[in-house]
Amino acid sequence: MTSRETFVILDFGGQYTQLIARKVRELGCYCEIAGPGLDYDSIASKHPKGLILSGGPSSVYDQGAPRIDPRLLGGAWPVLGICYGLQLEALELGGRVAPADRREYGHTRIQRSAPSRLLDGLPENLSVWMSHGDHVREPPPGFTVTARSGDDICAMEDAGRGIYGVQFHPEVAHTPDGKRILQNFLRGISGARDEWSMASFVSAAVAAIRQTIGDGRAICALSGGVDSTVAATLVHRAVGDRLTCIFVDNGLLREGEFERVMELYRSRMHLKVTGVRAADRFLQRLQGITDPERKRKIIGAEFIHVFQEEAENSGSADFLVQGTLYPDVIESVSVRGPSAVIKSHHNVGGLPDSMKLKLVEPLRELFKDEVRELGRQLAVPEEILERHPFPGPGLAVRCLGEVTPERLDVLRKTDRIFIEELRAAHLYNEIWQAFVVLLPVSSVGVMGDARTYENVVALRAVTSTDGMTADWARIPFEVLQRVSGRIVAEVRGVNRVVYDISSKPPSTIEWE
Ligand code: XMP
Repeated sequence: MTSRETFVILDFGGQYTQLIARKVRELGCYCEIAGPGLDYDSIASKHPKGLILSGGPSSVYDQGAPRIDPRLLGGAWPVLGICYGLQLEALELGGRVAPADRREYGHTRIQRSAPSRLLDGLPENLSVWMSHGDHVREPPPGFTVTARSGDDICAMEDAGRGIYGVQFHPEVAHTPDGKRILQNFLRGISGARDEWSMASFVSAAVAAIRQTIGDGRAICALSGGVDSTVAATLVHRAVGDRLTCIFVDNGLLREGEFERVMELYRSRMHLKVTGVRAADRFLQRLQGITDPERKRKIIGAEFIHVFQEEAENSGSADFLVQGTLYPDVIESVSVRGPSAVIKSHHNVGGLPDSMKLKLVEPLRELFKDEVRELGRQLAVPEEILERHPFPGPGLAVRCLGEVTPERLDVLRKTDRIFIEELRAAHLYNEIWQAFVVLLPVSSVGVMGDARTYENVVALRAVTSTDGMTADWARIPFEVLQRVSGRIVAEVRGVNRVVYDISSKPPSTIEWE
């Protein structure tokens, strides 16, 4: 896999860095995002086909603003600077950057002002998306200004040295010709020939996993969700039944989920799966606990116990398969640094060192939608691929207050109704995540002629692309009305339904 054509994107903390990576991959070129501090030798050792310098929130004149090693602009590979990246090029190579007196944001029309390899095939006048503060006032010696907006420099290049820069963002949909610009850089200028695709990924990944695991054995904790299932399927394709999977019923899954998912794993996907019924253990430990962080910690710790016991029962393993995705990996390299822990997300990363398992993370290079695509290549059932994300601590963080079998029962029934109605209205796939939250309050109602004093549930449905930010879904009132009507009629113990209209931030998706 080391010989594949790779583009490196240096991340200066811009909001669109991941989008650049997605676009480059959509154009069939493999790329990696690296922190701005990655040294010259590490970048050179990747033999990049080209280098992209991302945008960023800083002014190049800010104290501590990220800079680059000038050797990166030495002509060993083509470079495309975007926004902050363009300003860095200008600064490092002897141009002049003027600090902004205002930030420019939005659509701008630019005019081409000289022949350009980067803008090849584009109209003389094009619409682009700007989001920046500083401006390049004077290009460095040897550079030609290839596009302007009024007097402002919007694109420049030194084709001899292979250094290109744009003030605007070609990676966003608001720049209609952006794809062509990136294509020109990747194919025309950098000469990339490979076609990165999920089909090519499968064969390369299977070969790499075989090499890593060798004759060894691997285990994997399955959750019923997309990431762990696709990771396990890929490893299974590489090493067959030397992979043992473990799926734990922690008593906090949705209605019928354990049985249904086990059935899919076994009969449709032919994975070697041990199903562990451990609901009692988890629920016992959760008795009397209402604090969300304590719930999460207890569930995480208990999960590790169960997993460890089962792993020992199934014979010795050398490798642990995890469905870590690319956004989890790059979180730690960005200039923003590792994000603050808002909620402690539980996974099997906390396994004791004594188990001495080496990690296999075959999805480390992929984005969520690429994992779905990979799943399709591997014939993972659509039912699993289209499934909304579900948190490790499951219904416990949706059952506000104490987690009891009776309250979980109410939650399961109401949640099933909500999801059924979303599917019936063809809204399920439009929504990132939808679920019901059982509140720790009772409300007064009237049913027939009698006064009731019963549970309140909240419906939560959000749209999102990565779960980092989210907006509440605009579900039609008629659908909400059907859900509310059915819940109160069909689920004993609920007399009121509310809809959560909070976005993230400032709220989170889950309530706990
Ligand atoms: P929040 O609530 O932080 O959730 O906005 C963002 C996304 O993460 C999921 N989530 C979890 N996933 N273990 C997980 O595997 C967890 O402990 C956990 N907590 C939240 C949440 O469902 C949403 O998709």
